[in-house]
Amino acid sequence: MRSFPLHRLSKLTLGTVQLGMPYGFAVKTHPPNPVETMQLLDAAWNSGITCFDTAQAYGEAESVLGQWLKTFDREQPDPLIISKFPALAGDNTFSFVRDHARQSQQALGRQTIDAYLAHNAEDIFLPGVSDALQSLCDEGLIGSFGVSVYDPEILARALDIEGLSVVQLPASLLDQRFQHSGLLDRCAERGITVFARSVFLQGVLFLSPERLPDHLRPAAEPIIALQRFASEIGCPLASLALSAVLTTPGISSAVIGIADQAQLATNLEALEIRPELDAIEQAKKLCRGLPVSVIDPRQWR
Ligand SMILES: NC(=O)c1ccc[n+]([C@@H]2O[C@H](COP(=O)([O-])OP(=O)(O)OC[C@H]3O[C@@H](n4cnc5c(N)ncnc54)[C@H](OP(=O)(O)O)[C@@H]3O)[C@@H](O)[C@H]2O)c1
Repeated sequence: MRSFPLHRLSKLTLGTVQLGMPYGFAVKTHPPNPVETMQLLDAAWNSGITCFDTAQAYGEAESVLGQWLKTFDREQPDPLIISKFPALAGDNTFSFVRDHARQSQQALGRQTIDAYLAHNAEDIFLPGVSDALQSLCDEGLIGSFGVSVYDPEILARALDIEGLSVVQLPASLLDQRFQHSGLLDRCAERGITVFARSVFLQGVLFLSPERLPDHLRPAAEPIIALQRFASEIGCPLASLALSAVLTTPGISSAVIGIADQAQLATNLEALEIRPELDAIEQAKKLCRGLPVSVIDPRQWR
């Protein structure tokens, strides 16, 4: 099994969907202009973020990242890059995966993509897919392979796939399903690197509850309780949210989405504030058991 280079991985990984296409829950934000994008990527790298998450499905994100990667010279250490192939189409799964990996490699201008994931989790089980990914590893076009999941049940099945060494999954104060599933221990036993995404549930965590649409109403009470608790203990909610995920054994890095440098700075400051473990546990208790229709963005209208 090819492992992800954990020794070079930062606690935060920069998500790039926001840099490639209009994205967002409350208001769709548009990607920053090219100059701002390069400045944002530079700022992330210079502040110690070593890993960048992208996908073919993120509009221009792969090529934007590729433009930025050109600014690195060979003497410098390279940023770690994760990308994903889109949902499979057609019968020849083996060729589909290999062709898309080449397209990603070209857009990114990288000899090796450090991790290449199935964006649509079920695709990893189709015949030919893991063989194609393994062959790409053997040829050095990708460093490791894995899957991006939404459901613990799918992750449980994916752990049986030989050679799989990277997983991206949702985890947040509002969505603790994976933390309570026992699967993170199994990932750790198998040496699988786990990335947590949607740590702020696409920003829902920070919304004032009256801005929540009807279908997310069940989140209002825990969000009010969390915001009040954070203010009582004098800890930014972003710090509680990041710590709740990053203190979970088995999770190596949090993939965060940001639209501008101000948000990057806020989250880097938040990362430096380490709430007591007791406070994190109390925060977690305030928001357990939300229905999947609230915590799974695929089910949002
Ligand atoms: N594999 C997959 O299927 C998948 C799915 C989704 C995302 N991702 C990856 O994960 C990354 C993160 O995704 P996400 O958007 O779900 O997660 P997120 O990190 O939970 O939320 C990001 C959003 O939260 C808001 N935000 C961030 N920091 C904030 C702060 N300090 N205060 C207030 N608001 C803040 C911003 O929204 P506003 O600008 O609207 O305030 C930002 O766009 C993406 O970029 C992408 O790389 C992967």
